Amino acid sequence: MTEASQKDPLVLFMPSGKRGRFPVGTTVIEAARQLGVYVESVCGGRATCGRCQIEVQEGNFAKHGITSSNDHISPIGAKEERYDRVRGLPEGRRLSCSATIEGDLVIDVPQDTVVNAQVVRKAATDRVIERNAAVQLCYVEVDQPDMHKPLGDLDRLKVMLEKDWGWKDLLIAPHLIPQVQSILRKGEWGVTAAIHRDMDSSRPFIVGLWPGLKNEAYGIACDIGSTTIAMHLVSLLSGRIVGSSGTSNPQIRFGEDLMSRVSYVMMNPDGREAMTKAVREAVNGLIGKVCEEGGVDRHDILDSVFVANPIMHHLFLGIDPTELGQAPFALAVSGALQYWAHELDIDVNRGARCYMLPCIAGHVGADAAGATLSEGPYRQDKMMLLVDVGTNAEIVLGNSARVVAASSPTGPAFEGAEISCGQRAAPGAIERVRIDPVTLEPKYHVIGIEKWSDEEGFEEDAAKVGVTGICGSAIIEVVAEMYLSGIISEDGVVDGAMAEKSHRIIQNGRTFSYLLRDGEQKITVTQNDIRAIQLAKAALYAGIKLLMEKQGVDRVDTIRFAGAFGSFIDPKYAMVLGLIPDCELAEVKAVGNAAGTGALMALLNRDHRREIEATVKNIEKIETALEPHFQQLFIDAMALPNKVDPFPELAKVVTLPERKVIVAGGDEGGGRRRRRDRG
Ligand code: FES
Repeated sequence: MTEASQKDPLVLFMPSGKRGRFPVGTTVIEAARQLGVYVESVCGGRATCGRCQIEVQEGNFAKHGITSSNDHISPIGAKEERYDRVRGLPEGRRLSCSATIEGDLVIDVPQDTVVNAQVVRKAATDRVIERNAAVQLCYVEVDQPDMHKPLGDLDRLKVMLEKDWGWKDLLIAPHLIPQVQSILRKGEWGVTAAIHRDMDSSRPFIVGLWPGLKNEAYGIACDIGSTTIAMHLVSLLSGRIVGSSGTSNPQIRFGEDLMSRVSYVMMNPDGREAMTKAVREAVNGLIGKVCEEGGVDRHDILDSVFVANPIMHHLFLGIDPTELGQAPFALAVSGALQYWAHELDIDVNRGARCYMLPCIAGHVGADAAGATLSEGPYRQDKMMLLVDVGTNAEIVLGNSARVVAASSPTGPAFEGAEISCGQRAAPGAIERVRIDPVTLEPKYHVIGIEKWSDEEGFEEDAAKVGVTGICGSAIIEVVAEMYLSGIISEDGVVDGAMAEKSHRIIQNGRTFSYLLRDGEQKITVTQNDIRAIQLAKAALYAGIKLLMEKQGVDRVDTIRFAGAFGSFIDPKYAMVLGLIPDCELAEVKAVGNAAGTGALMALLNRDHRREIEATVKNIEKIETALEPHFQQLFIDAMALPNKVDPFPELAKVVTLPERKVIVAGGDEGGGRRRRRDRG
């Protein structure tokens, strides 16, 4: 290729913004390659795969000194015409392997090049993930055998893969070796090889081989949670999500929470094997489900990325998690791992690979690493708090200068367990609650019923659906609303004196409850329920506070709630309760399954694997149980929102009640009251 000169056309690629000068006649794909702009190609420039599509952006781009026009690219030639005739080229699209540079250009590399008709699911994330998958499909035409050149069929295939695609030192998955000859002949010497290379330093591997042009390959990104397993099926060539689904973790039958599953392993000689088998079967079942949704053959899955909390991580990989059940919570392995998928009994293509993100610490797993990759506290300057609330909350706090992480044993209260009328989020569960501060009358919203409880017709609908309990989001709201309306004190004690004012305050022995729903099935919030929530939120807050102290900050700039629970809770109520520290409300965001998004990023771009591996090495791990100060922080955090910490941002949007002290047992109805300045 001739050296580019200042007189050569200037080409700018979007959205990457990379630019350079190239001699007239250079193909657009060659220019992209030279600049490191990722443009997919399977056919190696034969204009048959259609993967290399681009668009010319017309106009005067003064900022870049470029006037771009379709006149500055070669006219549609015979190869593109043929492709358009056979497969159809969308209006305005060009094949960058055929189109050549004839003048200054602004080139758009679309992220959504769809070649095969796929069922396309709504994006699981709005994020555009730049692709650089670990698996690449490469079509080659291999020389036919020649008696005078005794090089084997596989060796001639490797020669072509090096000649056309630059792959040196290729290894091949052993199961393919006996198939090479028949595949080459079936394809009449034209074959597509799937090459896997994760690290630049590692030798590339031929992991799949098909006769003719194979124009699609898929990957799965999977988050194995203690309760739910979630999975995305993605095209490795276009980045499109073609199936997403979830299933409950069948290990629940061995124990609701993680620690009881560790105990099960300790008590039962075959416990570990049984749980490993159960989770792998569930993963295989889920693969079947996402493949059905996307109309994909599971054998077209060539790569997979997994995230999981430490105990799920160990059980899925077949490692005994006993050490994680006790201090010092030693992980068998913390770094990222690579497997052949079949080694983990994953039923996909025999040559498929499996990548597991690194774990951060004994209680902060690969799922937290995934969420960290997704939200990127280390990529920005704001002090970001990332919380994944589960039975064991994982907390990450930091910015580009420093990141610290810890976990906090919140217990299952936020999921509705340990709460007298608690239940999982399902039809019939109360999910939103408001309490009138004057009358103390509640109104609530129930999953499966459109109307609020104070609207006409609600009871008719309630009779059909049933109102059965309170789910996690409503537990937070009802306790926060009880506090805001003065039913409970900042110490969480139900004010018995209120019983005179409202029939909803009911005495049970020495304590009082709040009657949220009367009727055949009464739904009440008891003093014990409030205590359970206080304990859970205090554990979380104390963990967060410990990390804030490590960072030397008394406020955070932005908060990200990861996990399903975070998607349903109202940040305002979470703050009233003192679940999270004070922060501008607009800066508190639910990010859904961030761990799954992180897995997706690592699946579609191997650079993200290196990014999170390097990041995790630098994250400082704090073991809350070993910090003597934790206990005091925990006690302070038992109060609503907190005994000592101010909530000035919250005070801007909510009038926090005056402080009143009620001695538990109900024999004092707020006699000792004093004002407290929270601002
Ligand atoms: Fe296959 Fe251009 S690279 S059509």
